[in-house]
Amino acid sequence: MDIDERIAQFDSPVDRTGIFSMKWDVADGELPMWVADMDFRTAPAISEALTERVGNGTFGYTDVPREWNEAVADWWLRRYGVTVDPEHVVFTTGVIPAISSLVRSLTNVAEKVVLQPPVYNIFTNSIVNNGRRVLCNPLRYEHGAYSMDFDDLEHKLADPLTRLMILCNPQNPSGNVWSDGDLARVGELCAKHHVTVVSDEVHGDIVRPGVTHMPFAAVNELNRSICVTCSSPSKAFNVAGLQSAYFICDDDGLRARAVRGVNTDEVAEPNDFAVFSTIAAYTDGGAWLDDLCRVVQRNKDYVSAQLDEHAHDMLHMVASDSTYLAWIDCSGLLDRVGDANAERFCGFLRSHTGLVLSYGGIYGENGSRFVRMNLGTRADLVIDGTARLLAGAAAYLGN
Ligand SMILES: Cc1ncc(COP(=O)(O)O)c(C=O)c1O
Repeated sequence: MDIDERIAQFDSPVDRTGIFSMKWDVADGELPMWVADMDFRTAPAISEALTERVGNGTFGYTDVPREWNEAVADWWLRRYGVTVDPEHVVFTTGVIPAISSLVRSLTNVAEKVVLQPPVYNIFTNSIVNNGRRVLCNPLRYEHGAYSMDFDDLEHKLADPLTRLMILCNPQNPSGNVWSDGDLARVGELCAKHHVTVVSDEVHGDIVRPGVTHMPFAAVNELNRSICVTCSSPSKAFNVAGLQSAYFICDDDGLRARAVRGVNTDEVAEPNDFAVFSTIAAYTDGGAWLDDLCRVVQRNKDYVSAQLDEHAHDMLHMVASDSTYLAWIDCSGLLDRVGDANAERFCGFLRSHTGLVLSYGGIYGENGSRFVRMNLGTRADLVIDGTARLLAGAAAYLGN
């Protein structure tokens, strides 16, 4: 198959109704572009591995074989040029189950965990639901781009009750990719204040073609010694429902505590499909993923250009090198109607056009003038969603 035929496969309709899809649990005529899963069929290598596994017909307990650890380590070497010791890779049933467990095993009740909003909202649950406290180091947003506020970060890390920082690398929702310099500075400051870093890198595989993901731990030895990296094939290969993830940790003491934690919390045992899907993804899924990244970039470029052309003074998509999420600054529109945040606009979009987006305020106070649009879908739905967004914005002005 040539590239055009392969891309056409991503654009062919997939019926996600009747499978209890969380995303597609919407009314007739609504277009869901919110929760972060994609509408594409997963890589053929994964479907084949699972079909073969189903063919066996027995579904007892599954071990995590050495082959699984090696598949993860090989992936990190091939995709990011990073050497990972297979023994340092630990299976977990999800990134969030792992992070919640790490919060419990690496901090005490009432201690503080640093987050950098706007950021994936469930991090807050992992902290607060475990009786720990969130300390925010808000990202700076200037001239349409995000950066870290290192002075404020140092101030937050210096709090004697701060024990952990959860870094989102790349950042959901903005799609921001952090530079080596940013990551080195975070590592330096965290080491200085004895704060452990949990680096969530689940979006690292979905990057602009030509960009290579930079893992936090790969920047230097200091970073490597103070961090636990969490990832999964779930976002890149659209297999979130298989509940398969892992963490990597090179420091022996830190790893021992983390391993103890995920075992005590019972989030370290795979379901029957988790192991097989990950081995297949990481062994044979690379070419499919390269195509996916092309499709995602095409979708992002389309939406960005449409907003620039038809709503440049109202809606602006933040430029980004990662994720299939469009992070759209609605400030221009909100200023024109006198709204403080985009919550009412989000509701209006749904009720007037059927377009279902995520309200940016759920990712932190400084996300409240944004909406998040999931572009992990076929071309005709991206076009449809963009048209609904533009029509909705125009109608909102007269509302
Ligand atoms: C940054 C980030 N981490 C974790 C998750 C969820 O991971 P899991 O389903 O493996 O718990 C998501 C899902 O959107 C995410 O964006």
